[in-house]
Amino acid sequence: MARKFGIIGHGFMGHEHETMLTNFDGIEVTAISDIDPEQLRDVPEGIKAYQNASDLIRDPEVEVVLIAANNNQHKKLVIEAAEAGKQVLCEKPIALCLEDLDEMEAACKKAGVSFTVHQQRRFDVDFRTAKNVFDSGELGDLYVVKSGLYGFNGNMHDWHVFMDQGGGMLYDWGVHLIDQMLWMIPGKVTQVFANLRNVINKEVDDYFHIMLRFDSGLVAEIELGTYYLTDKPHHFERHWFLGGNKGSAYIDGFFPEGKIVHTDGLLKNVGGQRTMTAAGPTRSFGPPPEGKLILKDLPLADTKHSDYFVNYLKALDGKEDFLVKIPETRRVLRLMDAVRESAKTGKSVDFE
Ligand SMILES: NC(=O)c1ccc[n+]([C@@H]2O[C@H](COP(=O)([O-])OP(=O)(O)OC[C@H]3O[C@@H](n4cnc5c(N)ncnc54)[C@H](O)[C@@H]3O)[C@@H](O)[C@H]2O)c1
Repeated sequence: MARKFGIIGHGFMGHEHETMLTNFDGIEVTAISDIDPEQLRDVPEGIKAYQNASDLIRDPEVEVVLIAANNNQHKKLVIEAAEAGKQVLCEKPIALCLEDLDEMEAACKKAGVSFTVHQQRRFDVDFRTAKNVFDSGELGDLYVVKSGLYGFNGNMHDWHVFMDQGGGMLYDWGVHLIDQMLWMIPGKVTQVFANLRNVINKEVDDYFHIMLRFDSGLVAEIELGTYYLTDKPHHFERHWFLGGNKGSAYIDGFFPEGKIVHTDGLLKNVGGQRTMTAAGPTRSFGPPPEGKLILKDLPLADTKHSDYFVNYLKALDGKEDFLVKIPETRRVLRLMDAVRESAKTGKSVDFE
């Protein structure tokens, strides 16, 4: 029997969900809601359209309520859906603050319904390729993992420019980028240092640079720039760098290109070679001598966003745990608070 989904919010992400889930084995989209009647014009035949989300939530046919409305709507819609006894699946960010998340979780627990968040970027091919390299251990002891995402137009679209709607890049991609790091790297984050800026937007953040120090000594660095102008090819995409004492890996692009890079011996065995540069001679920062670097292909991941719903359905049937657990989302929100505090004070924040 297919699980019957109702989608609240038929904007960008609501349409993505509708397209993916109407063709998904084990799911039937039975209803869609949007407060804006324009967004209901293209609801496919056979799917009920409601302008009022409460009507969708009360519809006895709807079993799972998938919330894809503006960020500031998540709390009230999650609580209303839980109180109506529906399974609750919410878009990220799960909540705007920890207090809201506590209330939402309590409502779901009280009603005895499931509650998780749509963080399908755990299945991004670039991220999972980086995670494959990380998990393989072949880079030795890692000292740094960098994740970067860069765009050029700076202005965020629609409600994302308004603070009271839950706008800004930290609530947008920030949630995914932080979640990816925390899911990949084990151990405690002992300290957080961050720069969070409104570069060209008045109300909301559009640039951040976050450093997370783990108890292992590894530092994870996450940088996102929306107004990051350059004409370098391949720039407006995704970048990873993993550095360890036995090698490095670089991973560029959403469908990633890159290599794992080793050397044929430890650096102390490499004779100092004098290279003349425009900045004078150097023995440490010239190009590597011929044959010193050993390149390996990346262990490309074979993942797709629809994998998220494969897990979701199994978890609803009690066959697996939900991939994204509420304590993990709470940790991301807490970390975002630490980012804001560090950016405000200019100091690092003790974390875990
Ligand atoms: N997981 C992802 O990769 C991803 C990507 C994009 C957006 N999102 C999330 O999806 C959500 C929607 O973002 P978007 O970019 O699609 O925004 P959007 O503006 O394109 O769509 C939101 C829609 O919700 C409707 N809406 C607002 N309040 C409502 C209510 N109370 N009842 C019914 N409809 C309501 C709006 O009219 C709008 O059509 C956000 O939480 C966002 O963070 C997630």
